[in-house]
Amino acid sequence: MQRKNKTLGEFIIENQVEFQYSTGELSKLINAIRLAAKVVNHEVNKAGLIDILGGVGETNVQGESQQKLDVLANEKFIQTLTNREIVCGIASEEEEDFISINSQDENHQNKYVVLIDPLDGSSNIDVNVSVGTIFSIYRRITPIGTPVTLEDFLQPGINQVAAGYIIYGTSTMLVYTTGHGVNGFTLNPAIGTFYLSHPNMQFPETGKIYSVNEGNYTHFPQGVKDYIKYCQREEGDRPYTSRYIGSLVSDFHRNMIKGGIYIYPKSSVNSDGKLRLLYECNPMAFLAEQANGKASDGFRRILEIQPKELHQRVPFFCGSRKMVDKAENFMQGKA
Ligand code: AHG
Ligand code: MN
Ligand code: MN
Ligand code: MN
Repeated sequence: MQRKNKTLGEFIIENQVEFQYSTGELSKLINAIRLAAKVVNHEVNKAGLIDILGGVGETNVQGESQQKLDVLANEKFIQTLTNREIVCGIASEEEEDFISINSQDENHQNKYVVLIDPLDGSSNIDVNVSVGTIFSIYRRITPIGTPVTLEDFLQPGINQVAAGYIIYGTSTMLVYTTGHGVNGFTLNPAIGTFYLSHPNMQFPETGKIYSVNEGNYTHFPQGVKDYIKYCQREEGDRPYTSRYIGSLVSDFHRNMIKGGIYIYPKSSVNSDGKLRLLYECNPMAFLAEQANGKASDGFRRILEIQPKELHQRVPFFCGSRKMVDKAENFMQGKA
């Protein structure tokens, strides 16, 4: 039984003992993410008051126009993790290359790398719609004490040690997993403390929501077109409801609570879809599986894909297990 009013800080300490994280390093790292989340939350909340809305006039490595909050969130997360010398490397959606963190301290033995999407759904910033942050943590492969290499970041998702997201929504929540289920914490902004509000989150086995950018319908593969038509057909518990925010974090969060499927397929204009395997799909897939859901590219389990490059994109089907199974059947011509 979870005691009421447990804070994220208390939860991290309790679980450090329970799961025997050998050095407490992972706990310190999650604590640093908790701190960065509060800083970014503060910036996102006051975005309309000061001049931090809108674009910076730069294009990032993804070919997207960067928003000021993309840049700011990226800086805050990198600064917080770097200053605490808590990781040996960071890769970010907003950075062309990974960052190797060389400690001043010779005894510095950090073994974790972090991959982040600092601000997810950035096209929603200027219109006051929920955005998020996604993070993914791996143990490095190369020897401790040496500079990290690309190999440390190009690990399949099954190697993740922890993953989570922060949703800056009607309330701000931090949701994460260390491979022992998914727990959600809601920020009390008055005192700056996250409380355990959603213990052991689970996707319902099936649901009635499908989330896909239907504006791209003409460009979708036949399997996705057929699945969308299936969702819309009047039969059994259908038609389903269409809900698409355009922030993966928010669409995922709603679907995990209510039951649903999120799809960002490949298309005739984006041969690998849009979402990034390392910063978006792997962490969300780890969370989905830990919450009794499923994530695939239509054919393969996301977590088993061997990444080839840092900013690799992949088609993404994620959510309630039975709905993802059904969509996969359509993709594979079995429906
Ligand atoms: P980001 O803001 O980190 O670049 O991610 C945007 C992603 C994701 O959050 C969202 O689900 C998707 O792009 C929306 O894309 P479309 O506008 O093409 O539907
Ligand atoms: Mn972006
Ligand atoms: Mn994103
Ligand atoms: Mn982003």
